[in-house]
Amino acid sequence: MLHEKIEKNVTLLAVLIVVAISFGGLVQIVPLMFKGAIVEPADGVEPYSAIRLAGRDVYIAEGCYNCHSQQIRPFRSETERYGHYSVAGEFVYDHPFQWGSKRTGPDLARVGGIYSDDWHRLHMIDPRAVVPASNMPAYPWLAERVVDGQAVERRMRALRRLGHPYTDEQIENAASEVRGVTELDALIAYLQGLGTEWTGQRAAPRAGGDS
Ligand code: HEC
Repeated sequence: MLHEKIEKNVTLLAVLIVVAISFGGLVQIVPLMFKGAIVEPADGVEPYSAIRLAGRDVYIAEGCYNCHSQQIRPFRSETERYGHYSVAGEFVYDHPFQWGSKRTGPDLARVGGIYSDDWHRLHMIDPRAVVPASNMPAYPWLAERVVDGQAVERRMRALRRLGHPYTDEQIENAASEVRGVTELDALIAYLQGLGTEWTGQRAAPRAGGDS
């Protein structure tokens, strides 16, 4: 019997195992090499503007992801609190994505538009001023630091190489768009945009302020 032969010959068995596994791998991997994009941007989702990109960098540099996720799972307990669950096409322009894995604080995937800019300003400078029980650290220095426009421009160029469709004009205007903008302003612009772009989401009530 052929089966018996394979089972008794270790070398033949090993070779056939490798062939079987490689075939499975190739079926999954090869088509991806010929596809331009695996995930298309969700309707309405655009690459970050200069100011929001600068704010995203502040978010990463300050380690906000250590306490905040940006990924709403498709469970009722999450969608009732945070809004429509996250979809892949919302993260196409996130390099790297900020899904996070820890929620010391609430998920921020759809925090945009929930609070006013002033609320965020107070909250970042002194979280206890607006949420007395908060254990979030204060970030008062962000209000004093100014965004480096040249760095934003370089980042946009780098992202264009990764496939973000920035136009020459957008890149050339980046430095002047963020001139004089503080890191706090940029961070707030970033937060206010979170989850607001995708036009396909079902409007879901989202309570704010009681976190
Ligand atoms: C040590 C953990 C921790 C870190 C680090 C942290 N946060 Fe928070 N954050 C919290 C907690 C806890 C809350 C809930 C209490 C409150 O609103 O202050 C919160 C609340 C928030 C909220 C309000 C969310 C809502 O839905 O009410 C925003 C916005 C926010 N954080 C942004 C940030 C940003 C931006 C950074 C980085 C600059 C950051 N956080 C860093 C713990 C953290």
